[in-house]
Amino acid sequence: MKNVKGKKTGFAMSLNNFQENTQILENKNYKGDYYCITFQAPIISPSVVPGQFVHLQLPTSPNLLLRRPFSIYNVDTKLGTLSLIYKVIGKGSKALSMLLPGTVVNLLGPLGNGFPTATNKKSVIIVAGGYGCASTYLVAKTAVAPGCCVLGARTKDDILVENEFKQTGFEVNITTNDGSYGHKGIVTDVLEQKLNSIQNQPAVVYACGPNAMLEAVGKLAMKHHVNSYLSFDMPMCCGVGACFTCVIKIKAANSDGWEYVRTCYTGPVFEANDVYFE
Ligand SMILES: Cc1cc2nc3c(=O)[nH]c(=O)nc-3n(C[C@H](O)[C@H](O)[C@H](O)COP(=O)(O)OP(=O)(O)OC[C@H]3O[C@@H](n4cnc5c(N)ncnc54)[C@H](O)[C@@H]3O)c2cc1C
Ligand code: FES
Repeated sequence: MKNVKGKKTGFAMSLNNFQENTQILENKNYKGDYYCITFQAPIISPSVVPGQFVHLQLPTSPNLLLRRPFSIYNVDTKLGTLSLIYKVIGKGSKALSMLLPGTVVNLLGPLGNGFPTATNKKSVIIVAGGYGCASTYLVAKTAVAPGCCVLGARTKDDILVENEFKQTGFEVNITTNDGSYGHKGIVTDVLEQKLNSIQNQPAVVYACGPNAMLEAVGKLAMKHHVNSYLSFDMPMCCGVGACFTCVIKIKAANSDGWEYVRTCYTGPVFEANDVYFE
C-alpha cells in the first residue's frame, strides 16, 4: 500500500481511475436515514480494492456542483455493479436518496489506496463505526480466512450490514453507546478483549469510523504491537489531490515531527504507526 514512505505527489487521476457515466439500478432505503444504491458500473467495478471510494457527481442541481465521496461497499464483477451505503446528512445525500433507477450518475473512481491485503497467516479484525462498515465489508468478503469484526454505533438503528458480515463467516460483535443492542459501550472495549485473547498470534486490524474512534483503535493496536490500518473520512472537495481540504497529520522527520498529507490521494487508509496523533 502507499504509506508515508511511499507518498505520492501530484494528482490522483491515473490509469487505475475512471470517470464513468453509470446507471442507477436500485436506490432503496436500507433503514432509518441509510440508503443502499447500486450502479451499473462495468468500467470501475472490476478494479476495486477494499477500502477505495468513488467521487459522485449529483446530476440534479447547480447547488450541488461538488462531487461527494462514498466508500465502495460492494461490487459484483460478473454483473459489473457497484453499491454504496450512505446516510442522509445534508443536501447532497438527500438529493442522492431521491434519484430513481435509470438515472445516469457520473462516478470518478476507484479512488484512494484501499486496505492492504492480509496474508492468511494473520487473524483479521475489522472495526467499523456507523457507515464505516461500508468501507470494510469488502475486506471481510475477500479475506482468505474469516476473522472477527466489531460493529459499533451510538444506537441500534445505526448498526448496518450485520447479516452481510455474518454471511462472510466472520464472527460479528456489536456495541452500542446506549446499550440498545449488543454490548453497551464502545468498539475498543471489545477490541481490547480480542487483542488480549489472541496474544501471541499474528493479527491485523482494519478500521473505519469517526476520527476519535480511529485514534483509539490505532493506539490500542500499537499497545498490543499489532498493525492497524485506519481509513479516514475527511471532508473532500476534489477527491484527486488538487485542493488540500482533506489533509491529516502524518509523522515526518522534520522539526515539527509531522507533515500534512492528502487523505484522498495518499490515503484514505494509513497505518496507525504513521499517523501523528496530537
Ligand atoms: C473517503 C470517504 C468515504 C465516505 N464514505 C461514506 C459512506 O460510505 N457512507 C456515507 O454515508 N458517507 C460517507 N462519507 C461521507 C460523505 O461523503 C458525506 O456524508 C457526504 O459528502 C455529505 O454530503 P451532503 O451534501 O449530504 O452533506 P453536506 O450538506 O455537504 O454536509 C452536511 C454536514 O456534514 C458534514 N460533512 C460533510 N462531509 C463530511 C465528511 N466527509 N466527514 C464528516 N462530516 C462531513 C458537513 O460539515 C456538514 O456539517 C465518506 C467520506 C469520505 C471522505
Ligand atoms: S479532496 Fe482535494 S486534495 Fe483531497
